[in-house]
Amino acid sequence: MITCKSRAEVLLMERATRIVQEVLAECVAAVRPGATTEEIDRVADEGIKARGGKPAFLGYRGYPKSICVSINDEVVHGIPSSKRKLREGDLVGLDLGAIVDGYYGDAARTVGAGKIAPELQQLLTTTWEALVAGVEAVNVGGKIGDIGAAVEAVAGRQGYGIVREFVGHGIGTSLHEKPEVPNYGPAGRREAIREGMTLAIEPMLNLGRHEVRVGSDGWTVRTVDGKPSAHFEHTVVATAAGPVVLGFGRYSAEKSLPGVPAFSEYPSAASFRRGAVA
Ligand code: CO
Repeated sequence: MITCKSRAEVLLMERATRIVQEVLAECVAAVRPGATTEEIDRVADEGIKARGGKPAFLGYRGYPKSICVSINDEVVHGIPSSKRKLREGDLVGLDLGAIVDGYYGDAARTVGAGKIAPELQQLLTTTWEALVAGVEAVNVGGKIGDIGAAVEAVAGRQGYGIVREFVGHGIGTSLHEKPEVPNYGPAGRREAIREGMTLAIEPMLNLGRHEVRVGSDGWTVRTVDGKPSAHFEHTVVATAAGPVVLGFGRYSAEKSLPGVPAFSEYPSAASFRRGAVA
């Protein structure tokens, strides 16, 4: 069943996703050559709890950590470890979820550790643009297939492989709800997009071929050809005025501001630390 959420429900999801975005900013600040992925998990776990949220991934189907950190050829679901150190030039995917009063927020960003190669920067930028295109296709009256078609159009321009085995999803009182949201078309197919539908849109683009495999830990998804992959994710609500991305203060009791926040609108760790009461 696909559930459409009330304003009160979406407000809780806005709070959950706000926590995710703020804590992702802290995690981004912790990404540097020499840091272990376990250290990033600690930032994530403590950051969510300090803000009154609950880590959504910890214990989910037995997942052992609070964040997924996926490096280079790892596509998604990399498990943090004290044995895994980031190196200069690594492409680092950070995927985080939080729960507030039973409602979920889910978002992901990919960043470089230190200076990254131009082809990785291009992959990162294009995956972000694919996310933006996907979000802009969340229109009441449209179809779920429109989202994937929009993602595909952007990814195809660069010839990147689009991961097919993992998809975006409905989200609400569970991390994964119906419908599935693939990152490929065709447009005009699949479920109707209705007002109050909340979706996690999450393109995963590979520098090489699209095929992926799950590793022996049962979680880590890697590209089969060993080439790097990037991942961005937003939690979005469909409104009559258009898609609203949650976690950026664009959805409140007073207003809802459709459209996609610019790359520069992500909170930075410094921006809220400055305003914090130590
Ligand atoms: Co997700």
